[in-house]
Amino acid sequence: MAPMSEPIVNLHDHERAAQAALGEAAWAYFSGGAADEISLRRNLAAWQAWGLAPRVLRDLRGGHTRCRLLGREWPMPLLVAPMAHQRWAHPDGEAGMALAAAAQGCGLVLSHQTSTPLQEVAPLVLPEADRGPLWFQLYWHADRSLTTDLLRQVEQAGYEALVLTVDAPVQGVRDRERRHGLPLPEGVRAVHWPADTLPSGAGLCGGLAEVAPRWDDVQWLIGQTHLPVLLKGITHPGDARQALSVGAAGVIVSNHGGRVLDTVPASAELLRPVVETVRTQQAEALVLVDGGIRRGTDLFKALALGADAALLGRPALYGLAHAGARGVAHVLRLMRDEFEATLALTGCASVQDIDLDLLWPCKL
Ligand SMILES: Cc1cc2nc3c(=O)[nH]c(=O)nc-3n(C[C@H](O)[C@H](O)[C@H](O)COP(=O)(O)O)c2cc1C
Repeated sequence: MAPMSEPIVNLHDHERAAQAALGEAAWAYFSGGAADEISLRRNLAAWQAWGLAPRVLRDLRGGHTRCRLLGREWPMPLLVAPMAHQRWAHPDGEAGMALAAAAQGCGLVLSHQTSTPLQEVAPLVLPEADRGPLWFQLYWHADRSLTTDLLRQVEQAGYEALVLTVDAPVQGVRDRERRHGLPLPEGVRAVHWPADTLPSGAGLCGGLAEVAPRWDDVQWLIGQTHLPVLLKGITHPGDARQALSVGAAGVIVSNHGGRVLDTVPASAELLRPVVETVRTQQAEALVLVDGGIRRGTDLFKALALGADAALLGRPALYGLAHAGARGVAHVLRLMRDEFEATLALTGCASVQDIDLDLLWPCKL
């Protein structure tokens, strides 16, 4: 890693190092949020507002961080969130992200807007014995034959689940990004996304409403693949209920890291009602969450509120931006160490011991 004046000991340090390493436009794209960035800030504050209620003197022997997702055991309840254009952050790009995630026992969700072919990423993850899950994130495309073609590629490459992102039928209004544009460097592009497929004059009244996905499209998609499908960007319990009734294997509670619709509440605030709905309807369906997770204690709180696992977004990109694969590995290692310390200090020998009782009943 590039020498810093202070040692890098937490994810905030990685963020500062990334800002120093990236140009202004890239920093605006990777770190920015929608409009006044209220949801972006609230995502961070809402985890911090929950207090922990540790228990002492419990038996911690044989402790571990293993979890079960989609019928299989994994080393850690943490995955790297799907994020576009990673080779803009660093030449290691999605390959570096994948190697680091697998080495640290964390999962990886590869973005539909990956700048590295999905066929090159999967073999970097699948042979690792102690890896996390490998999933592929999909945006809806109006041309169904393009979608089915991509699905076959995803299945053949060995991805284990599909994540359909449903909260961004149109691009969020991101002021910082609009000031700088999106000057992707030469050779960096979304390799699985056809360049010319948005209706001209895109926008709800300019044709996007015609091609934006609806519930019957989701049902169709689920019928096209043997992979489990999770819906990402669910915030309303009613949508969680509908997701399960059309056959989704689970939902990801997310406001897209505050990048799409500003003033949607924080994921930490939205999570519990979705969990309660899902558990009543279908006990084995998954609920994951992302947005604002920066500490092992945040991950712990997500599980205490009922999530099966969480996704980490920007911090992984920040590690990548200033130090490539090694930077990501360090970010994930820090999360792992902090999470293990939180387990021990709250009296939990494993993630199965985490429950709502370990959160202080009133916010700080
Ligand atoms: C630069 C950037 C690009 C993103 N690209 C995608 C994407 O291609 N697909 C998607 O579903 N979510 C995308 N997201 C949202 C993340 O998957 C995730 O929901 C969010 O970053 C989590 O919040 P956090 O960054 O506070 O951890 C992106 C986020 C960032 C920061």
